[in-house]
Amino acid sequence: MSTPLHHEILALSDEQARAQIDALVPELLEHSRRYHAEGTPTITDQAYDEAFHRLELLEQRTGYVRPDSPTLRVGADPVSELPPFVHAKPMLSLRNAFSEGEVVEFETSLHRFLADEAPPLFRFSVEPKLDGLSLELVYERGLLTRAGTRGNGTLGEDVTHIARTIRSVPARLRTDDPPALLEVRGEVFFALQAFTDMNARREARGEEPFKNPRNAAAGTLRQLDPAVAAERRLSFYAYDVGVVEGIELGARHSERLAALSALGLPVDPEARTLEGLEAVLRRIVSLGEQRHRLPHEIDGVVIKVDDLSVQRSLGSLSRAPRWAIAYKYPPPEVPTVLREVSFQVGRTGAITPVAELEPVQVGGVTVSRATLHNADELRRLDLRTGDTVLVRRAGDVIPKVERVVLDEGHEERVPIVFPEHCPACGAPLAREDSAVARCTAPLSCPAQRHAAIRHFGSRAALDIDGLGEKLVEQLLGEGLIRRPSDLYALKLEELAALDRMGQRSAENLLAAIARSKEQPVERVVVALGIREVGESTAAVLMERFGGIDPLLQASAEELAAVHGVGDKMAAAIRAFFDDPHQVDELARLRGHGLRFEGTARSATVTPLEGLSFVLTGTLPTLGRAEAKKRIQAAGGAVKGSVSKKTDFVVAGDDAGSKLDRAVELGVPVIDEAELLRRLGGSP
Ligand code: IVH
Repeated sequence: MSTPLHHEILALSDEQARAQIDALVPELLEHSRRYHAEGTPTITDQAYDEAFHRLELLEQRTGYVRPDSPTLRVGADPVSELPPFVHAKPMLSLRNAFSEGEVVEFETSLHRFLADEAPPLFRFSVEPKLDGLSLELVYERGLLTRAGTRGNGTLGEDVTHIARTIRSVPARLRTDDPPALLEVRGEVFFALQAFTDMNARREARGEEPFKNPRNAAAGTLRQLDPAVAAERRLSFYAYDVGVVEGIELGARHSERLAALSALGLPVDPEARTLEGLEAVLRRIVSLGEQRHRLPHEIDGVVIKVDDLSVQRSLGSLSRAPRWAIAYKYPPPEVPTVLREVSFQVGRTGAITPVAELEPVQVGGVTVSRATLHNADELRRLDLRTGDTVLVRRAGDVIPKVERVVLDEGHEERVPIVFPEHCPACGAPLAREDSAVARCTAPLSCPAQRHAAIRHFGSRAALDIDGLGEKLVEQLLGEGLIRRPSDLYALKLEELAALDRMGQRSAENLLAAIARSKEQPVERVVVALGIREVGESTAAVLMERFGGIDPLLQASAEELAAVHGVGDKMAAAIRAFFDDPHQVDELARLRGHGLRFEGTARSATVTPLEGLSFVLTGTLPTLGRAEAKKRIQAAGGAVKGSVSKKTDFVVAGDDAGSKLDRAVELGVPVIDEAELLRRLGGSP
């Protein structure tokens, strides 16, 4: 549950985490562009996935999600075999508020924006924020004809076959006078009971259960086989409309919801119309209290200005309307008992206190351990063995001890003290600038050696099959190895003589070790275990320097100048190569024939080379002229009309016949955000 990556991310300060996000986003965008637009990736899929996962965790940890973040897009851009679905009116997202203060700020911004035209009290529609996926249903003359996912807002996937299996979605509107066109927008989700039942059925069939209702809903919606979806029982609540022709739904959002309900569409019974900010804040609290008794998961409350004419005056930003905000509840806290605190020694000697807990269910996952980050955190929490603690899954993934429940017994219990010596080797611990305590005997500490060798052979590094936890322990214990380079000097006889080993496994291990010499240089860089340097940084470094020797020569300034490498990382890299022991180890690895060289490339400046674009509609921030200029500067061509040769149509608001033509010819349609992404990052 809590991997070293989780530990590492939790140990970062908010500022560090944000800086990493700012470095990772452009890096991932660039890799994704190379992969998709050029078909020439420069990192492995695995390295990409790892960097992506890291970004997800960082975003969950900080709540800081850049608008150009690939996490907002991947999986959203249609990639499946499902046919495309173009939204006549873009499906927007919502801005988030993580505190009451931000909700207050939202209301203030409405006053500021409308100035004299603001009403004394705003009327709001306040609705539970269902944790599912958005879906658009198209009713033509009262009949459900099509349904599509949101996708990137303009272009989603056609999931009509799945929508038809949702029992609460009517196939025909309940009216004698059906409108010519009604696009209904809402959320597809799993009720908790349906989710539990489905997972029970899956487990009975020996299938992997879904992690949570939201993942399950996403997986089900993109099913190709409607029979599978029908068995799973999705739910749907309508919360908005798209294009409407031939019916008057009212002048307020709440009237629209009532009208949709009258037409037979399911609308959340917990939606309320409330006057003024105070009432909204009270509703947030009361819904939060009821939250765990609801038949489905909600992750927040959506607050919308109710009056549609006021909505229109406020207008929208590029991705989200100004007239609405989503308040997000903090993740749930669950009490459990602290059995003890253990102290783990990491690869770089960092000591991480870990809470060993009575196993407890938190948000559908069993938690029995949680990181306590560092000494400062331990002190802040004032933990004592036997205390009842509140655990939460930060960002709903990483378990975290929030605080101690100060019961009567707490005072009597003995506080947990952070050790002064390494629990593995007894060497004194050193505190650097940060709160991190480190073992001062990197070369002799068995825990550090163990972690370093494990890391060396891990999948992200040199991927030595069979070099597991137990074996590394055995090899170190028998004195067969002391450092990674010793692996290459292992002999068949000595390995085969080990307990539980045998000739065959020994041969396999030696073959795996020999194969690791073929790994590309960026993997070797990862394997070295330089502090702060993971897969994506290693790839960037090798791209810039082309090999380990030039990297060794690089000054901290040169290193820091590399895109995605900060001052702290540069200093860590420099310190690593200044350490004579590491220089020795490098020489040994080189002697054993590991790859020390790769190929340096210069960054491409023409990411759209050879592609032709057609622009249509109003682009939210760029405008047509600017977009054209940027496309051309990036090597692309901008054409006036759509043909089969067009590579992309960039569609903005009120896109016209060119969009229809693109759909007809099957030319991919992208929005401005996607264009910016392909241009190489943020606006
Ligand atoms: S309104 C322009 N209402 O939250 C307004 N969204 O974070 C767009 N969601 O994409 C959305 N419950 O999938 C709205 N009552 C509700 C909602 C809701 C859940 C989801 C929806 C949207 C996402 C934005």
